[in-house]
Amino acid sequence: RTVYLDGRFVPFEEARVPIMDRGFLFADGIYEVSAVLDGRLVDNAAHLARLDRSLSEIGIANPYTIEAWTRLQIDLVARNGLTEGLVYMQVTRGVAERDFAFPAAGTPPTVVMFTQGKAIRANPLAETGAKVITVEDLRWKRRDIKSVALLAQVLAKQSAAAANVAEAWMVEDGVVTEGSSSTAFIVTGDDRIVTRPLSTAILPGITRKAVLRLAAEGGLGIEERPFSVEEAYAAAEAFYTSASAFVMPVVAIDGRPVGEGRPGPRTRRLRELYLAMAR
Ligand code: PDD
Repeated sequence: RTVYLDGRFVPFEEARVPIMDRGFLFADGIYEVSAVLDGRLVDNAAHLARLDRSLSEIGIANPYTIEAWTRLQIDLVARNGLTEGLVYMQVTRGVAERDFAFPAAGTPPTVVMFTQGKAIRANPLAETGAKVITVEDLRWKRRDIKSVALLAQVLAKQSAAAANVAEAWMVEDGVVTEGSSSTAFIVTGDDRIVTRPLSTAILPGITRKAVLRLAAEGGLGIEERPFSVEEAYAAAEAFYTSASAFVMPVVAIDGRPVGEGRPGPRTRRLRELYLAMAR
């Protein structure tokens, strides 16, 4: 297994980051995840644009051009013979003696990339549908930045794991913000797809954007507005989206079946449309 660290492709076992890395000490960095299907990156330009935005929002200069990032990703995918899975990218503010304020100008950021094999199209959970629970959203106020400070999401996902379900939907003031690592959607009885509008309260999901476009092209009604947990319980269908799940049907929320308790027809259609787009 080959990974990328600070300008070099190195064996996984040899890739080491110093203890003074600000990612390790302060979670002072950002990350990005792109899917790979049939050896090709999915919607990758949008992921690299979001990576660039996350960096700029926290004042780290993007170390590479979009073209250079893309070449490195393609090279890494090829070196690992990856056909289906993920490319993970992380940039931190680099290595410096521990001090909260930024290190001296010119401190090089730490850049890490690795691949993970994963069945995304061939994920059996997409056939049966996923169960979710709701948890309190404990995060900070800039959730639009894809920060590596993920403690609230770690705790949310562990609550899901402890409850034997796939995902946790985070809730603030009675409304769903998003999943711990995904965007939350419901489909109403009158056939409208509902998801929160973009703001600093959620990550601007790349899969979300593609799915909304596909839904609009497919003539499905869309409402970008917050929805409550109660409305989600009563929804005809529910699903979540992410680079690692694509469109994942939700068949139960907090132990209550959604609709018929099976993946719904609009959700299945959107998953098909997304898979057709991604190939
Ligand atoms: N997570 N919301 C949150 C909080 C996320 O962490 C993610 C992605 C999404 C979906 O975004 P996208 O469609 O661009 O993947 C929404 C990635 C997959 C992760 O942390 O592994």
